[in-house]
Amino acid sequence: GPEGKLQLVQRHVRAFPDFPKKGILFRDICPILKSPAALTAVIDLFEERVRSRQLQVDLIVGLDARGFLFGPLLAQRLGVGFVLVRKKGKLPGATVSVAYDLEYGTAEAEIQEDAVAPGQKVLIIDDLLATGGTLLAACELMKKQRVDIQGCMVVIELRDLKGADRLKPHNVFSLLQY
Ligand code: PRP
Ligand code: ADE
Repeated sequence: GPEGKLQLVQRHVRAFPDFPKKGILFRDICPILKSPAALTAVIDLFEERVRSRQLQVDLIVGLDARGFLFGPLLAQRLGVGFVLVRKKGKLPGATVSVAYDLEYGTAEAEIQEDAVAPGQKVLIIDDLLATGGTLLAACELMKKQRVDIQGCMVVIELRDLKGADRLKPHNVFSLLQY
């Protein structure tokens, strides 16, 4: 059942103190990718959440780089396309970008202008929600393109950093909370 799947996922997350900077407890999801069963459990749980919340999804939007590990798998499972939000300077053609802060630095996020169309319903995927800066930037990009954001979905939510508050009124779905 879902409880077993969650435990399986949880057993495949490691914590590394003081990475990449002193004071940051880094949650490492690499063991999930290394375990076919744990990775399948993540996608199963994501899919179950989409269905139980009756989210309407035309496209999955994934965030550079770790959102790319889970997003396409969920998109395939749902039978929809996948769109990349990349760090600035990586995408050819006309792009739209926005600057943001994250738990341990700053960055700029970018999409191709023709990646999404006004009115499309999207679900934004990443591995982890910390301060919410990254997901907020993705939401801003989607709003610029007049897309209908159905919610944000992550494997891990770091509750103390209150990222979900910054993302309101958008729904945040997370599998594990620390
Ligand atoms: C990490 C993580 C999230 C973001 C969360 O990505 O994968 O995308 O930080 O932090 P926030 O909620 O404070 O914005 P990072 O920018 O380190 O890049 P990476 O995925 O390329 O490793
Ligand atoms: N991205 C931002 N904060 C993080 C953390 N504590 N662990 C892993 N990825 C992160």
